[in-house]
Amino acid sequence: MTRARWVFIAVLGLACVLYAGPHIARAQSEVKPDPKSDFDIFRNYFTTKFPTVKLEDFVNGPYSMNEDMRKQWEEKEQFPPYDFAVDRGKGLFERKFKNGKSFADCFPEGGIGIRQNYPYFDTNTGQVVTLELAVNGCLGQNGEEQYSYVQDDMAAITAYMAFTSRGKPFDIKIPDDPRAVQAYEKGKEYFYTRRGQLNFSCASCHVQYPGERIRAEVLAPALGITAAMPIYRSEWGGMGTTTRRFMTCNSQIRATPLQPQDESYRDVEYFLSYLSNGLPISGPGARP
Ligand code: HEC
Repeated sequence: MTRARWVFIAVLGLACVLYAGPHIARAQSEVKPDPKSDFDIFRNYFTTKFPTVKLEDFVNGPYSMNEDMRKQWEEKEQFPPYDFAVDRGKGLFERKFKNGKSFADCFPEGGIGIRQNYPYFDTNTGQVVTLELAVNGCLGQNGEEQYSYVQDDMAAITAYMAFTSRGKPFDIKIPDDPRAVQAYEKGKEYFYTRRGQLNFSCASCHVQYPGERIRAEVLAPALGITAAMPIYRSEWGGMGTTTRRFMTCNSQIRATPLQPQDESYRDVEYFLSYLSNGLPISGPGARP
């Protein structure tokens, strides 16, 4: 680790100690959950902090924050490194299972243009269902081998599904079911809880310091932060899913990453995606 990085982390750590807390009310038993009010406060926080960033631009992660990076990105987008994944994902998507069915049979609208509705809360099982969970659910139901949740085939198929949904606004519902509100609240709690040897929360980096550099990376804003998934990252040498990114973020603060698709990861994705409602799907993305 470079000296500059340690200095940054030390400064960030100190700032976090001084930081008065998140900008939306913490999940506390005496405060009634109010996702709609969280939504307004959250959006207002980011649009006020970054008055020159267009609302629909927040979904481009670090590129929305930094002009130089944005230029590099626009050049890269002429030959996007995720193209191979989209092609591969299309092949997987259209392939017939051994029983003659395919992914199209498992999803609404035949699975095309639906990424913006994930994750959703399933009132039958009482669980948050991410796109990745639904993909493996489909494979399982059809007697097919399931994919790894972090990369390869899962990244490829979700890249294709995101690609067919580009520009569609996030439309995450919290059904009238106390368990759905509870999942949202748990996701919020996870987002604001400090962890790891560096004692950071997700919010420390993505609410308090978007636009700042950590090593060579520019921190993405939490608003719209799930819209570009899955992403190609040079540092990974390939594609990764939302789960992979969450696990990498946990490792960066020396916290033990959770299991892929752990309930907490699904809940935090539900929370973040709900707060991104109305913002367009931009995935798959490419990152330095
Ligand atoms: C030490 C700071 C730090 C913490 C804490 C952190 N992240 Fe990150 N996160 C990063 C960095 C660095 C990147 C890569 C650059 C970027 O996209 O922001 C990133 C990227 C992401 C991305 C991809 C954004 C994009 O468009 O490329 C998501 C999603 C994300 N983080 C979610 C989370 C969640 C959820 C948590 C809490 C579990 C978390 N992060 C905690 C530093 C952090």
